[in-house]
Amino acid sequence: PIDAPLAGKKAVVTAGPTREALDPVRYISNHSSGRQGYAIASALSRLGADVTLVSGPTSLPQPAGLNFVQVETAIEMLDAVKSGLPSDIFVSVAAVADWRPAEPSDVKIKAKTTKKGMGSITLVENPDILKTISHMSEDRPKLVIGFAAETNDVEDHAQGKLERKGCDWIVANDVSGDVMGGAENEIAIVKRDGIERLPRMSKAFVAQNLAKRIAESFKD
Ligand code: C5P
Repeated sequence: PIDAPLAGKKAVVTAGPTREALDPVRYISNHSSGRQGYAIASALSRLGADVTLVSGPTSLPQPAGLNFVQVETAIEMLDAVKSGLPSDIFVSVAAVADWRPAEPSDVKIKAKTTKKGMGSITLVENPDILKTISHMSEDRPKLVIGFAAETNDVEDHAQGKLERKGCDWIVANDVSGDVMGGAENEIAIVKRDGIERLPRMSKAFVAQNLAKRIAESFKD
């Protein structure tokens, strides 16, 4: 149907930051608001897709009409994404923390223990969710889309990222300005056979444009 070109298709979208505990009251995270990911999940749902939104902690209201899974850590996010498969589409919008404290403390770390200096925290690498899903042998979604938030040489980095992650498209955006947490975004859709640059627009319009192109890619 013209109004629901993604009817019968499943999509999993990640959004927001992840939160990696240092102790029961402290964590490592980032400034992602979740807005762009939520907007993409909603736009796909409006085109008829059956959408699962896997979200890290955000202050956004839960969008209506889709499956919503709340997570905190990168490991939880990966598990939730896998639980959402099989799926036709995976859009990895979340700003996943690259590292997590190796041994989070069960009790609040006392300030006294760090008075002499900073003390140090050992970090270990988090799973790369996008890369993991891109390289699945069974159940790999037909269309896997990653985001590349960069502050410089955005498109060059995006081409490299396509190969490193093994995904199909990279949505490149320049976060050097006020994009992260802001209302607008300026993106380039990078595929192996070319780049499409879109002008700066609201995150809702970015989402509509991306969802439209996703729907078009399923036509053939
Ligand atoms: O390598 P970088 O973090 O710049 O890649 C960004 C892309 O990879 C985004 O699509 C993000 O959602 C995804 N990512 C991920 N798991 C990570 C790190 C990034 O899924 N641990």
